[in-house]
Amino acid sequence: MEPLGAQVRIDAAGNLRGVYPALEPNVPCLVIGSHLDTVPNAGAYDGILGVVLGIALIEELRGRRLPFAIEVVGFSEEEGTRFGTPFIGSRALVGRLDLELLSVRDARGVSVRTAIEEFGLSPEKISQAELKKETLGYLEFHIEQGPVLEKLNLSLGAVEAIVGQSRLEFTFLGCANHAGTTPMNLRSDALAGASEWIGIVERVAQNIPGLVGTVGKIDAKPGAANVIAGEVRLTLDLRQSSDQIRIRAVEDLIRRAHEIAVRRGLSVRENVLLNQPAVAMDAFLVGEIEKAVIKTGCPPHRMVSGAGHDAMILAEKVPSAMIFLRTPGGISHDPAESVAPEDVEKAIDCGLHLLDQLASSPEFCKRTNRA
Ligand code: GLV
Ligand code: MN
Ligand code: MN
Repeated sequence: MEPLGAQVRIDAAGNLRGVYPALEPNVPCLVIGSHLDTVPNAGAYDGILGVVLGIALIEELRGRRLPFAIEVVGFSEEEGTRFGTPFIGSRALVGRLDLELLSVRDARGVSVRTAIEEFGLSPEKISQAELKKETLGYLEFHIEQGPVLEKLNLSLGAVEAIVGQSRLEFTFLGCANHAGTTPMNLRSDALAGASEWIGIVERVAQNIPGLVGTVGKIDAKPGAANVIAGEVRLTLDLRQSSDQIRIRAVEDLIRRAHEIAVRRGLSVRENVLLNQPAVAMDAFLVGEIEKAVIKTGCPPHRMVSGAGHDAMILAEKVPSAMIFLRTPGGISHDPAESVAPEDVEKAIDCGLHLLDQLASSPEFCKRTNRA
């Protein structure tokens, strides 16, 4: 970004940030970004495509300055893979990378605070990562990660809302013992209990329209074929567009875990890692994205995101919106994830129209922070 005239820094939460200056000094900025991290055995586009597109847009301006600065942000730790808690980088921008989050630990017992220090950054400076009060808005380009745009034969979509999500970690505790000598009726098998509960998660999600529930990670200890598991840790990811339905389902699943534990002579404890409400995108920006999509020659299409995004955190402080790109086969979080070069071209075209629209909009340029 430096050859493009931008000033680049890494903030104390590990977000990579470059500011492309405006026509005049000391004017507010528009933030464009997405995340740099990813999931295990991932694809190559989730997150990073949105960062690269932000830089590509600045490149395409070819030195032209706008009435607002553009800050491109590559967010750290959006997925929650390492610490179980997502959106760590974006939470720093809205002032929510707090002491509680700094003390969350990864599987090796390393806290977020220590990880930041070991990376050579200072947790004391996290407040310097916060967005300036007068920030104009946040835009995020992202692959759809689902089949909708492909089914409709559309390159781009405008996101009008992002569903809420809960993430929890459950630990079932039983009694490790010999697999050959312990009769079936004298066992406290933590893995058998956890498995019964996983089946319930699937049934509950299948029976509530729009609810998706996933146990994506399980760790049984001591982890040997001839030892009854004494301890099982597993994750729950639950999403729905209605926060009320999602929260009720979380409560129900916690209750069911305890029922199973009591019946099987186990104990269970749960730890809530995320309770993120559903978020509406900014109506003005969504409308402007639609206009820009039409200018690229594509029909407009509004959609809801089932995936979480940094935009849902930024939306707490600044008007935020997202542009989705068609995802071939709807495949994501997998090496088969891809994107068509012509759709990327359309996204750049759309982004340039959008920047021009916003630059000539007195309504947008006069906006100030909602906070
Ligand atoms: C982010 O990819 C998510 O889990 O929605
Ligand atoms: Mn992802
Ligand atoms: Mn993503």
